[in-house]
Formats: sequence, structure tokens, C-alpha cells
Amino acid sequence: MRRLLLLFIVTELAYSSCREGFTLINNECRGKYVTMEIPFNQALNTTIDKCNEILGQPVIIHDEKDEKYWEPFTVYSNPLFPLGLMCNSVTKMWEWVDGSAVDYKPPTYAPALDQDCTTGFCTWLLKTNPTYDWTYGSCSNHNINTFEIYCSIPLRQPIPSSDGCDNFEDDSDDGLCYQVGGIAESWTDAQMICKKLGANLASIHNQQENSFVRRLAVSKGAVNGVYLGATMSGKGQDFGWVDGTDWDFTNFYPGFPMPGIGDCIAMDTTTTAGQWINIDCTEKLPVACVRQGRAIVDPSCSTDPGVEGTIITSPGFPYIASMPCDFFLTADVGKIVELEIILLEANPFYDYLVIHDKFLGGDMIANLTGILSNVTYTSTSNLMRVSWEPNGGVNVKGLAMIFRGV
Ligand SMILES: *[C@@H]1O[C@H](CO)[C@@H](O)[C@H](O)[C@H]1NC(C)=O
Ligand SMILES: *[C@@H]1O[C@H](CO)[C@@H](O)[C@H](O)[C@H]1NC(C)=O
Ligand SMILES: *[C@@H]1O[C@H](CO)[C@@H](O)[C@H](O)[C@H]1NC(C)=O
Repeated sequence: MRRLLLLFIVTELAYSSCREGFTLINNECRGKYVTMEIPFNQALNTTIDKCNEILGQPVIIHDEKDEKYWEPFTVYSNPLFPLGLMCNSVTKMWEWVDGSAVDYKPPTYAPALDQDCTTGFCTWLLKTNPTYDWTYGSCSNHNINTFEIYCSIPLRQPIPSSDGCDNFEDDSDDGLCYQVGGIAESWTDAQMICKKLGANLASIHNQQENSFVRRLAVSKGAVNGVYLGATMSGKGQDFGWVDGTDWDFTNFYPGFPMPGIGDCIAMDTTTTAGQWINIDCTEKLPVACVRQGRAIVDPSCSTDPGVEGTIITSPGFPYIASMPCDFFLTADVGKIVELEIILLEANPFYDYLVIHDKFLGGDMIANLTGILSNVTYTSTSNLMRVSWEPNGGVNVKGLAMIFRGV
């Protein structure tokens, strides 16, 4: 895929409640997701993966209020409570899994928090040691322990707007939205600035995008250079775009990237060519962000019955998923309906896809939520009713499916 889809959703609806067992605190749903037996050194990765399953993230603590909220959930013994702290291999400093800085530290913590994190510390734990509020498990500890995985699921606020790029600049040639602004303290900080805008640091895939970003930068006063979204970290000796897009275009000055001078990339905006150099990731520079424009502004539920063998989607797919819709699928008499879900992306336990045999009065075949692809359901008659029932449909793509009479 050429672009990571960045979904900006316009909707009046937001989450009205949290999933069972989770509590709404400070614009996020907080709670325990699962209890698991896992080796110490896998605890952080597993916590990240598990929380991802419910579109959440591990516990992040930015102030005393958060610390005081979470502390009572754990005691000085098993089970263990992992925190969302991970090692940034570029800065060698601990940071939160969402890229934010460790701007709060509890009254007592293991000294490793202030030390080079690449030297073998693994999972940070909350209040599991009587000496420290935060302590860590070593990466060489493969012992299996009981971990309680707590997550927080941010509420995604609707972003009201009418045009595809909102307050971003629109490059009408490629449907992407760019913004240049804010002087970042470092490359990591730059990516945080973009993330807060629902975007990523800009990736550049052709001369035309390069020129657009350069002109935009200059028009915003960034006349010396801007950070682009590529680093060398984690990619061996190769650069890669942070938004996951292909590394299919470069515009380096001859002789660059120059070994040993830095693992991040900046565009020199002083000349019209907008050529690139590699620089130290802790330079202060303005930021260029990019995100996908919204193609569809006002989805509606079509009154056409779905056509056999064609891809049918929920209204607004994949940009907006908030509009409910019923699909009445009909196969030839004597056949049954075979429905393939190509993709369902629904907020787990908020948005549902309900499949019924027949249009009315038939059995419920399935009641689905979360993320699914490539699954098939069949009816007992030639009729099937598929109901997309979003409760907000916030930040998800919705439904794509195809059916056949068999
Ligand atoms: C955790 O995941 C990261 C990134 O996928 C990987 O580099 C690292 O080796 C994993 N750690 C463990 C202990 O599996
Ligand atoms: C689908 O499941 C959810 C959660 O269990 C429930 O609230 C909803 O009523 C179900 N829908 C139908 C049509 O049964
Ligand atoms: C869907 O699943 C079937 C059976 O599991 C598999 O043969 C097929 O390759 C899958 N298709 C895709 C697009 O993943």
C-alpha cells in the first residue's frame, strides 16, 4: 500500500461509554483487560499487543494523579502490573509507548529510569517492589510470571470540519494534506507534534511532493530546513519512512547521507531544489507533517440492494463508519447466500455487524465486532440480511464484503 491511511473522521457521535470493566477517566477508558502467564522479557511486547487488540495502549503515567489512580490496582507481589515504558534506541532514554516523554517520575523509582536504557532493562512495573514505585524486570529474566494487563483506550474526539484537509494545506495533485509548523526539539518531538495533529512526519515519494513541501515550508517561514519523516533507527543502515510507506524516492545532496553525522533526515529549504541531508536527531528544526485527505464528506446508506459478486461497503468506507446501514442480499431461488467479509473494522464492543438468515424472522447467524477479514457465512435460504450497527464508528473503516449465490 502506497500510503498508510490516516483516518480523520467527522461525526457527531463519540463513545458514550466504556467497555465492560473499564472506567471513563480523563477522556480515556481505563481497566484490566486480561491476566496472563508470560516470560518476564516478553511482558512489555505482550502488553502492547494485547492492549492493541482493544484499540488501547499500555498504562502511561504523566502526573501524580495518574500514579495515584493506578497504584491501588497492584500490590507488592504477584500478579505484576506492566507500565507502557519502552526504550528509545536512538536517544537511549526511556519513553512512553506513544512516544511521549517521561515528564513525571514517582517519589521512588529504580535508578535504571535515568540510565542508558539499551543496556538490558526490559519491562517496567508499577508498585511491585516495596522499595520502588516503579521498578523493572531484566531482559535476561525468562521466568514465567503472572501479569495483569491494564490498558487505557483513548476517546477519539470528533474533529469538526468541512474540507478534506481541515487546517492542513491541500496538495490537490495527490490528495494529501500537509502542514509545516512548530519548531521541534528533536526528531522524536517532531513526530509527536505531527501525531497530535492526526498526522505523521512527512514522507516524500516524488519530485512534485518534494516541491510542494519545500514551497509550503518557505511560506510558513521555515527557510532553513524542516524535519522529514525518515530515520535510520531500527532499519540497519537503511533509511525508512515512519509512516510505513515505500522508500521509493530520494533527493539527497551528492555525498549524502554521510556516515556518522546523524540518523534523521531534513530537507534544506534554502534552495528551490529542496535537497535532503542526514542530521543529528536531536537538532531543533521545524516540522513537516502529512496526512491523507478525506475523500468522502457525507456518506449515506444506499437504498440499492447489494449486487452479487461486487464489493459492498458500509457508507463512507474507509473514511467514515458512523452511518448505520442494512443490506438485503438476495441470491437466485434455490441457492443460498455465501457472504465473505473482506474486512470488518469496528470498535470492539461498540460497533457491531449483525448477520441474519432471511430478511425478517430468521435466525441470527453472527454478531461481530472488532477486526476481522476473510471469513465466510452462509444462509439457509436465498435471503440474508446484513446490518451494520455502528455506535459512533469512530476511527475505524467499517465493512467491506462480497456475496454469491451458491
Ligand atoms: C519486542 O518487540 C520488538 C519490536 O518488535 C523486538 O525488537 C524485540 O526483540 C521484542 N522483545 C522481545 C523480548 O521479544
Ligand atoms: C450483539 O452483541 C452485543 C454485545 O453482546 C449486544 O449488545 C447486541 O444486542 C447484539 N446484537 C444483536 C442483534 O443481538
Ligand atoms: C482467505 O482464506 C482462505 C481459506 O482460509 C485462503 O485460502 C485464502 O487465501 C484467503 N484469502 C485471502 C485474501 O487472505
